[in-house]
Amino acid sequence: METYKLSILIVSVLTGLVIHRVASVRYEPNWQSLDSRPLPGWYDESKIGIFLHWGVFSVPGLLSEWFWKQWVTEKDPAAVAFMKNNYRPDWTYQDFAEQFTAALYNPDDWAELFNASGARYVVLTSKHHEGFTNWPSKYSFSWNSMDVGPNRDLVGELAESIRKKTNIHFGLYHSLFEWYNPLYLEDKANNWTTKDFVAFKTLPELYEIVNRYKPEVVWSDGDWEAPDTYWNSTEFIAWLYNESPVKDTVVTNDRWGNGVMCHHGGYYTCSDRYNPGKLQPRKWENAMTIDKQSWGYRRNANLSDMLTMEELIATLVETVSCGGNILINVGPTPDGLIIPLFEERLRNLGKWLNINGEAIYSTVPWKYQNDTVTPNVWYTAKKSPNGLDVFAIVLKWPSPGQLYLKCPMTTEETKVMLLGYGEPIKWEKAKTGGINLQIPNIPFKSMPCDYAWVFKMENLL
Ligand SMILES: *[C@@H]1O[C@H](CO)[C@@H](O)[C@H](O)[C@H]1NC(C)=O
Ligand SMILES: *[C@@H]1O[C@H](CO)[C@@H](O)[C@H](O)[C@H]1NC(C)=O
Ligand SMILES: *[C@@H]1O[C@H](CO)[C@@H](O)[C@H](O)[C@H]1NC(C)=O
Ligand SMILES: *[C@@H]1O[C@H](CO)[C@@H](O)[C@H](O)[C@H]1NC(C)=O
Ligand SMILES: *[C@@H]1O[C@H](CO)[C@@H](O)[C@H](O)[C@H]1NC(C)=O
Repeated sequence: METYKLSILIVSVLTGLVIHRVASVRYEPNWQSLDSRPLPGWYDESKIGIFLHWGVFSVPGLLSEWFWKQWVTEKDPAAVAFMKNNYRPDWTYQDFAEQFTAALYNPDDWAELFNASGARYVVLTSKHHEGFTNWPSKYSFSWNSMDVGPNRDLVGELAESIRKKTNIHFGLYHSLFEWYNPLYLEDKANNWTTKDFVAFKTLPELYEIVNRYKPEVVWSDGDWEAPDTYWNSTEFIAWLYNESPVKDTVVTNDRWGNGVMCHHGGYYTCSDRYNPGKLQPRKWENAMTIDKQSWGYRRNANLSDMLTMEELIATLVETVSCGGNILINVGPTPDGLIIPLFEERLRNLGKWLNINGEAIYSTVPWKYQNDTVTPNVWYTAKKSPNGLDVFAIVLKWPSPGQLYLKCPMTTEETKVMLLGYGEPIKWEKAKTGGINLQIPNIPFKSMPCDYAWVFKMENLL
């Protein structure tokens, strides 16, 4: 008995050691080691995030979130004329900060809206290339949301609302560089042989936001002018993965230095609005915008600048079929509102996901991403007790009454359902290989949803 107990003790101590060792893999500050870290599972399962570009640039609300650069450096005629016609001659970009009031900002309302959209994570700009921090940073004296403008901790308030009201994962965007920061410009003039900006600004800020707000996404940007060795990116990410308060759940992207994007990091973003249309070897994200022209709020955006619901759902479906996540950007107004058009898109997305979410969340890419014969049909798959369920997501309602799919190989037991519709779908094995679905004549008012429809196929070959 005693020996038995002892051996159990030894076994459990050994098991404990093994588990401990697995849990405490230490990542080295080099890409080979960092790239080997498996992505925390929540990220791939989530599929959909909301991206928020909010800052002083939201005040002019013209051209894009690059307004400062477009006005002062690029001398974009639209920006120059707008400033000349509407502002006194000595107006500086900094003067806009006073008008960044966030007077109507209610982060509980944002949390409710993002939750209703079906998104499972949110990424807010903590600081964009203008350098203004949306939190009271110790390292951004007088150029932060507590000292000027809102007089509020915009980041902290959203983090709190999101966590209190929803199960959404909270993430932060952070720009490594700042267009006009003198320390940065000096390091740049020294060909990156000095790194005062990194030592006194970038890294302190990154540690500050991670320790204070515990973001589960660190969405880095503004990396491209300087090498990763200048930014100390691998050193920072090793800390993020080994020691930070979010080391077990955090994910990060790939924008960590010139030439790094699409080659190293957590998941890949590769380019803005990346949507490759084919399966990718590594987990990736399509960061895109509902306003096709801008990430920041634009006062003069018109209806044709906005993605339609059909375009938004099609982009989501293509992205997820090819193994990506989608990060859907809306730019809040300077007073802290999400305009009704963005709200409508997000709520309709949520309604669509209430019916069809089974074909999106926690799915994996199938062996085919889209049908090889019939256009506008994209596939996802999910393990179930009977094997693999395959979802054919159809972007055009099929007419007249029949839909041919080349890729699915049927068995005697194959069962087909239209999500949100009560009756099973009749089908037959196609002579040319694949399946013919008999599309029922559903009255317009009884359609299960708008924009795209999902045929769930069980027991395929
Ligand atoms: C979040 O969304 C889910 C699913 O639509 C819903 O059941 C829940 O009530 C929502 N929560 C809040 C706080 O709105
Ligand atoms: C930086 O590099 C450029 C181009 O190679 C060179 O002309 C310049 O002198 C260098 N500047 C410094 C400060 O080393
Ligand atoms: C950057 O990393 C190097 C190498 O680990 C280290 O010596 C240096 O102190 C770091 N610089 C900053 C600013 O953290
Ligand atoms: C909408 O705005 C874009 C510029 O953002 C412009 O090119 C386009 O002509 C406008 N369309 C309409 C219908 O006004
Ligand atoms: C499948 O998608 C790819 C990538 O978008 C496209 O090139 C191809 O034409 C599509 N196939 C069909 C049958 O539409």
